[in-house]
Order: sequence, then C-alpha cells, then structure tokens
Amino acid sequence: MRPIDLDKVQPGQILGKTIFTSDGRVLLREGTPLSLRYLKALREMQYGFIYIVDPRVPDIEVQDVIPEQLRQEAVLTIRRAFGDICKTGVNLQAISEVTSRIVESIMANDELIVQMADLKNHDSYTFSHSVNVCVVGTILGVKLGLDERKLKDLALGLMLHDIGKMQVSEEILLKAGRLTEDEYTRMQDHARSGFDLLRSIQSLSAHAKIVVLQHHEKYDGTGYPKGLKGDDIHLNGQIGAIADVYDALTSDRTYRNRFLPHEAIEYLMSQASRHFSLELITTFISTVAPYPPGTVLKLSSGETGIVHEVNMRLASRPVVTLVQDASGKDLSAPFPIVDLRAAPSLTITKVVST
Ligand SMILES: [Fe+2]
Repeated sequence: MRPIDLDKVQPGQILGKTIFTSDGRVLLREGTPLSLRYLKALREMQYGFIYIVDPRVPDIEVQDVIPEQLRQEAVLTIRRAFGDICKTGVNLQAISEVTSRIVESIMANDELIVQMADLKNHDSYTFSHSVNVCVVGTILGVKLGLDERKLKDLALGLMLHDIGKMQVSEEILLKAGRLTEDEYTRMQDHARSGFDLLRSIQSLSAHAKIVVLQHHEKYDGTGYPKGLKGDDIHLNGQIGAIADVYDALTSDRTYRNRFLPHEAIEYLMSQASRHFSLELITTFISTVAPYPPGTVLKLSSGETGIVHEVNMRLASRPVVTLVQDASGKDLSAPFPIVDLRAAPSLTITKVVST
C-alpha cells in the first residue's frame, strides 16, 4: 500500500488501510474498491489523503509504531474523556491506562521509526492529534534515554497537551480563515487553561502537567504563555513542542495541505536553535523516515521508483522498486529493486507527488 492524495485516487483503486471514524467505527475497510460515491464521501469528510494498494508494489507494508487497534482505542478514549470534561471534569483513569499501554508498546518495539502518516480528518483532528503527539513524543523520550516512569509522565502530558482547547469555542477552533487578534489570544490561552484544569489533580505528576503548560514555548523565548527561553523550558515541554509541530505540519488542515515527511524534517531543521534545541531536533529527526514506504521518488539516474522498505539504520537511503526507466517508460514486472544504501552514487532528486 502507499499514501496518495485523495484527489488523485482513481475510481476502482483498492483501499490499502482501513479508515475509522473518531468514535471507533469502521468507515471503509481495507480491500474495498473505491467507487466515485465513496471518494465523494471521503472528500466531504475532508480527508486529505488515504492509503491505496498499488498493484506494482502490492507487498509494501507500512509499519505503525503501535498496533492499529491500540491507536483507535486511544483516540476513542480521548474523545470520550475530552467530551465529558464539561459534565464530569477530567477523568484521568481511562486516559492514564491507555497511555501506559502505548508507552509499553513503544518500549517493546526495537524498530522505532515513524513511517506511517496518521490518517485524520476535520472531525477527528484534535483526538487523533493528541494520540499521535503522544506516540511521536514518547519515541523521542525513548531515544533520549528516559526511564519508564519518566516516559509515562511524559506520555500522559503529551496525551493531554491540548485539553485546554475544549474550552475554546468551535467557531475559533475550526475557523478556516485568519484569526482576529482577540480570537488568537483566546486560542493561545489553551495552554494555561489546560494547565489550570489539571493543576489540582494530585495523582497527576508535575512532569505531565508541565507539557500542557509549556508545549507552545519556543527555545528562543518567542513562544507562550510565558516566553521562556532555552533550558528554562522543561525537557518535557520541549518534547511536546517538537511532537506538536511535527504532527500539525504533516496533517492536512483547512488552510493548507500536509507537509510530506522530508519537508517537515527540513522545516524543523530550519528552526533549530530558534524554536527548538538543535540537540533535540537532531535526535528527533533520526526517528522519522523522510521517505516512508510508498513514496514515489525520482533518482539522479532519471529513473522513477517507489520506496519499498525503510533501512532502519539509514532511513534517508531506502530500498526502492523501479517502475519507470530514465526515459519515463513504464517498466513491467518483475520490477528491479535498488537498495540505495548500497548504491551511494545514486541520489534522490525529487519526491513525486502522486
Ligand atoms: Fe496546543
């Protein structure tokens, strides 16, 4: 399977990855031929991309770092817990339980590299975003050598980082155009108001709460709510900021299309020492595959290929299945396979958007 922009899907192509609604129901099951009616419905629900089966590379597998079922369960848990805040206050029990399972699953995985893009639409954005920020930030925590106790506090904070948004009106949250100054102030207030919601909960560690308060602080002091600088921002706050920005960049929003992973990596790197610490960004980048499986690439030889597999130790040099020769002529099966790690003279010149 490979990711593809929704507006480039041809009717009859086969869905490669099940799409779930944010309340945990199957919307379209993997293996379903995509009719015009389904494509129209997905467009109306504002999905930006989906996964399809590409017959040229039918055996491509895109590995998520946690099991799909656990991810869906976490999205549903967050949706329920956040939805109930106004009625019952914060119910941490269920969130804490599912977050611990995410941490355990990540700790048990010895191939920690982000290569699956998280499918989300308008409706599921806040909940899927919370879970993905938790997953991506926890991986960074593992790479930084945090122990299980610290990882669990960090992960819980990441899961809750945007809880304050439940107190921002939908009108502002979902506004497609530019926010007015007043709306922007109210939006920014979610970091502090989220922290205020949680501060009196004794069972929640200060190391979790700090992620909520500090995930919009920037290394150069230009962030909010306090404008803290450098290492005055707690490590967990800094991890939260990186995971939050990475996930937001790689998601389709109403005002822009998603960045592809290699573009998001470039952007993050350009902000090193400004918005983020250089050391943390460098470690983070080593956990993200710039060219995940299914990416269509142009090589310096002129040939076109599809990423088949990510080399875990050198993610920037994947294994590629060639599908077009240098003159642009389609090749036929069996397609040649090139391991870019073993072909140092070949470079990736372009990612072809498909
Ligand atoms: Fe936020």
